[in-house]
This record gives sequence, structure tokens and C-alpha cells, in this order.
Amino acid sequence: MPTKKVFVSGTLLGDALDVLRESFEVLQCDSVAAADLEEVSGIVALITDRIDETVLARAPELKIVANVAVGVDNIDLAACAARSVVVTNTPDVLTEATADLAFGLLLDAARRISEGDRLVRAGEWKQWTPSFHLGARVHGMKLGIVGFGRIGMAMARRARGFGMHVGYTQRKRIPENLERVLGATYVPDIDELCATSDAISIHCPLTPETRGLFSAERLARMKQRSLLINTARGAIIDEPALAAALQNGPLAAAGLDVYVDEPRVHPALLALRNVVLAPHIGSAERETREAMASLAAANMIAVLHERPPLTPVR
Ligand code: DGY
Repeated sequence: MPTKKVFVSGTLLGDALDVLRESFEVLQCDSVAAADLEEVSGIVALITDRIDETVLARAPELKIVANVAVGVDNIDLAACAARSVVVTNTPDVLTEATADLAFGLLLDAARRISEGDRLVRAGEWKQWTPSFHLGARVHGMKLGIVGFGRIGMAMARRARGFGMHVGYTQRKRIPENLERVLGATYVPDIDELCATSDAISIHCPLTPETRGLFSAERLARMKQRSLLINTARGAIIDEPALAAALQNGPLAAAGLDVYVDEPRVHPALLALRNVVLAPHIGSAERETREAMASLAAANMIAVLHERPPLTPVR
């Protein structure tokens, strides 16, 4: 008979729930906020669950929070550490899916595909002409990647396939041999990368240092007619400032999958035609979501069976 109780927020795709039920009593509801956590040893959380001191205080037996996401900005890591609660995430398994979406947004924003779709549906396509609905040339473009972890590097591989030139910025330079393989150049100064890139794609986590990283001042320093792609976290960009930069320059277009206050999208962005708005679907493929759920379950089982977690957040 399973003795430990585990709370699962929302739905897990694949067989992760069955796997958890083999070892634990599983409690399930739509969100951590509505759950009885009094006796639970583990929480499988979604990015929509805020795990903070208030939640931790409701779960005195808690040993692990297994986030079904690579980003952990929904979790107060310091509060978890203070209570010796292990936090795990789901890196690797969503890398390719997220880079695909980021690259898709880049192509869409550059070539104005979604905008063209809306125009066709509205009956506004009158005639093919040489100057109709011109976009930006992707081949040969200079792509600047902000945050060169797994997803940033996967984006660089895609960009190379499209004949783009890749620069990247982050605190630490990667080894030179890896730079050669990826065809990527290190640009230590983010403002230099922004000023010289035809497109910027954001792939860093949301932390106190990256919150508001793309401020009005930084956006104003971006290259004229450049593109901005964000599949990381909404709060890395100042949304009203982005809307202004899309309206008055220097930006030609943007592609966004993430927002400050999801699922609300800032009205100033909704009003613009030169921004592609996706509903946070970076990892939204069945295979990827099943792999994320399996990894979260495996972390839960490891920690509650007193083994090291597979993918701890340090
Ligand atoms: C993540 O993993 O952080 C995504 O935002 C959701 O898949």
C-alpha cells in the first residue's frame, strides 16, 4: 500500500500519473492554490502554480517540488531551500520543441506570414504586385542570441541551416571549440549585440537580473528595422516599451510566446499588426509534454525514495 501522498497540479500527459500511482497516493486538482497540502510529501507543479512561502507553510511534510517546466520563476527557490525542499525542473526534453517555435516566430515575424494570413481572410489581398507585403530577408541575417544555454544553442543550429550569422551574449563565454561547431561569436556587451543584430532571440531564464532586461532604453538602442523574438519569459521585456518600439521604431516586428501577465496580453501589443502573438506553446507537442511529465515523475520518485534527483535546480 502506498503511504506517501503526492499532489499533482492539473493534467499530466502520457503515463506519468500511472507511474506515480504505483508508488504514491496521488491527489489531483486544477491548481496548487485549491489543494489540501497538509500531508503531501511532493508537489508536481505547473508554471501557473505559484510556489511561495504561503504554499510551503500549507505543506509541512513537503520534500520536493517537481516543476513540469524548465523555467522555475514560479517557485520561490530561497523559501524552498530554507525548508530543505528539493526543486526539480525539466531541461533537455523541451529544447528542440522550444527552439522550433522560436525559429518559427522569427520566420513569421520576418516574412509577415500571420499578418498576411489575416489580410487574406479579411479580403484585403487585391493583387500580386512586386512591392506587395514585403518582409525581411532571413538568409544572411545577423541573429543575436541572448542566453546561450541548451535552447539558445539549438536556435543557433537552426540559424546556421538558414545561412544566418550568429552572435551570442551571456555572462560566460562557451568553449572555443563549441563556438566553432555552432558557428557562433561571443559578444560580451548585450547592447553591442542588440545594436548590430538584425534579429534578437531571447533564451535566458527570468531572474532578478533579467527582469526588464529589454527596457525602453535598451530597445531604443536596437538596430533599425530589426526583429525581437521571445520564447523565454514575458517579464524580460518591458511590454509598453516594446509596443512603442514596434510603433515608432527601431523595431520592424516581434514574435512573442510569453507575456508578463499570462494569459492577458498587453492591449498595446494586441493593437499592433507587426507582432506575432503565440499563446505560450514553446513546448506544446505531445511527445515533449509527455517527456516533461515523465521526467517530473522520475524526479518525484527518486527524491521520495531517498535517491538523488535527476534534474535538480541548484
Ligand atoms: C518552460 O518549460 O519553462 C516553458 O515555459 C513551459 O514549457
